[in-house]
Amino acid sequence: MNLFDVYPLNNIEIVKASGSSVWDAEGIEYLDLYGGHAVISIGHTHPHYVQRLTDQLNKVGFYSNSVLIPLQNELAAKLGEVSGKTDYHLFLCNSGAEANENALKLASFYNGRKKVIAFKGAFHGRTSLAVSATDNPKIIAPVNETDNIIFLPLNDEAALTQAFDQYGSVIAAVIIEGIQGVGGIKEASIPFLQLIRSLCDQNNAVYIADSVQCGYGRTGLFYSHDYAGVEADVYTMAKGMGNGFPVAGISIAPKFKPWHGMLGTTFGGNHLACVAGLAVLEIMEQDNLMKNAEKVGNYLIKALKEIPEIKEVRGRGLMIGIELPDTLPNVKKDLLFKHKIFTGEAKPNVIRLLPALNLTIAHADQFLNEFKIALKG
Ligand SMILES: Cc1ncc(COP(=O)(O)O)c(C=O)c1O
Repeated sequence: MNLFDVYPLNNIEIVKASGSSVWDAEGIEYLDLYGGHAVISIGHTHPHYVQRLTDQLNKVGFYSNSVLIPLQNELAAKLGEVSGKTDYHLFLCNSGAEANENALKLASFYNGRKKVIAFKGAFHGRTSLAVSATDNPKIIAPVNETDNIIFLPLNDEAALTQAFDQYGSVIAAVIIEGIQGVGGIKEASIPFLQLIRSLCDQNNAVYIADSVQCGYGRTGLFYSHDYAGVEADVYTMAKGMGNGFPVAGISIAPKFKPWHGMLGTTFGGNHLACVAGLAVLEIMEQDNLMKNAEKVGNYLIKALKEIPEIKEVRGRGLMIGIELPDTLPNVKKDLLFKHKIFTGEAKPNVIRLLPALNLTIAHADQFLNEFKIALKG
């Protein structure tokens, strides 16, 4: 059997990883500023993480949600503390798309409505309603087409107000990334997030903060949406939550009341997923990684803004988009193959930096030096 060929691949096999470095099969070291798509939050093969998972695997790796799993309560308590949402409740699942599916479903159960407001440039995942709320017709199969999603321009306060004037009584939820990732590192403005909060309150709609990529401390605050000073009803998380172990979740405001069978999953919240999640939060807290993300991120953003070839630098903390002119189409490829640095990308010509939150200033300097050379071709 061959693989179903859906991914454009770089011809590199990674065989070893540590911190912000990865090594290929030829022994060549790369600086990893991509983190396998914002997933590596505490660095590759962190000793505490490896120990936690190894110890747990030697006890029990998996049992289903039909028995007590106290590790889930521990993870919920720790997440509440580190994220500052101690009165929220946690539902655990396995991926970002699944987190968004569950958040949308929860909203619809809550107010009995069907319509969802999403935004131009959004990416919420590749399943069912998550893909319908994603602004990319190419990946929406006919079976996922629905009239229930209303797409509005990002940060357009008038359009949002008008949509609520028109459909207010049937809107189940507004779903928004604090900073669009796949969309090219575009920030939701603070007044816009505040308006979402107040229109949702006035219309009994649910404000869903998709924090799958921009969350989990990457921008310096646990949830980037919280820079607006208002809370979302549901925060969705995945990527950095397990540092590579597939674990995701939704953090749910106290006003939502659960009933047995309302949400569920086989793998969600299994023993290994919980210890992966706990190890990440323990390291984030112990090593002050949110502060580090803010410090090293600000350092990078400031330095990048001084480079004249760059069209625009966007983002916060360690979620950075570098928009390049069309005249420099090969920089990302050159960074990888000539300078041995992994970065992400977004269309049309944006380089995305999504490194581990313990990236050092020395790593940042290494990148800046190589990047300036890459810009010269
Ligand atoms: C903002 C956002 N939401 C949801 C997802 C989907 O996550 P997953 O690929 O884990 O399903 C992604 C993935 O890139 C994302 O960036």
